[in-house]
Amino acid sequence: MLESLTLPLADDFHLHVRQGAMLRDVVPLIRQGGVGRCLVMPNTVPPITSVEQALAYRDEIQSVDPDLDVLTTLYLCPELTRDVIMRAGDAGITGVKLYPRGVTTHSDLGVADVGAYDEVFAAMSEAGLVLEIHGEVQSDADRDICVMNAEPLFLPVVERLHRHFPALRIVLEHVTTAEAVAFVERAGERIAATITVHHLDLIVDDWAGQNHNFCKPVAKYPHDRAALRAAVSSGSPKFFLGSDSAPHPRDAKECAVGCAGVFTSPLMLPYLADCFERIGCLEKLAAFVSENGRRFYDVLESRDCVTLERRPCDVPKAYGSVVPYRAGETLAWSMV
Ligand code: NCD
Ligand code: ZN
Repeated sequence: MLESLTLPLADDFHLHVRQGAMLRDVVPLIRQGGVGRCLVMPNTVPPITSVEQALAYRDEIQSVDPDLDVLTTLYLCPELTRDVIMRAGDAGITGVKLYPRGVTTHSDLGVADVGAYDEVFAAMSEAGLVLEIHGEVQSDADRDICVMNAEPLFLPVVERLHRHFPALRIVLEHVTTAEAVAFVERAGERIAATITVHHLDLIVDDWAGQNHNFCKPVAKYPHDRAALRAAVSSGSPKFFLGSDSAPHPRDAKECAVGCAGVFTSPLMLPYLADCFERIGCLEKLAAFVSENGRRFYDVLESRDCVTLERRPCDVPKAYGSVVPYRAGETLAWSMV
């Protein structure tokens, strides 16, 4: 039995670090979890919609942890003109994030009509920016649409973008369904997907009535989870880590209408090692966290390594005001 595991420092291509005091609390925990580079999400208040804001946000995060490699993405909205996209490319901004309106935390300023942004997508292909997509349609009871089928129903939108902008790199983020996995597998090489650790673990029964496991998109059926597990077990380079670690204060989770988001950042690699071992694909962990994503995003290999060892790791009940994923449980792997 493997007793220790040395990996390059991990890349997390989907992470929420918030603002102000919460940012200062959670940023130091990122490298503690074995992640050295992260793509930070722009759904702040107000959202990150300009080059200047993105650079200031990156500087704010790096003032808390100067050793963290921070990649940024802009919130897709009417302010993103062709000129902004070109300047974003020159300034080293990594991508643009598409939130369909109203599907998740702070998406009220999101996109109502994806087709209205074709000029932006064309500019992104030229500038080499990556489009990150939260792939869900809005619930609509009259059309039998709810959180359980919202992701497959969004796939035609991605398919059209891929057809019209074949040079554009697109990441379908935090995939949760067998349909999305199959779509990414059969699409061209410029389409990839991120997968979270919690979606490899959870199904609908685990979040219904358990607010700490509630996130968007919600965890789905056992067969969907099986498809996600098969995707990471296959070692396909199209799937990589985007944790979607999303801290919310305890009182915003432990209440009648809880916020969506699961906080995994402080123990990212221990959670993943524990999960990959249960699934039976621990040997695929290194590529999932430190190779597939950086190749797709075309960023440099990380220089530093981290070591995990087989030693029980008790997940704290809380980090300050935030309750982490699997709080109070014990994982099989610890960071050295
Ligand atoms: C995220 C958040 O809290 O910002 N929540 C979530 O459930 N994943 C937003 C998101 O990525 O959807
Ligand atoms: Zn997210």
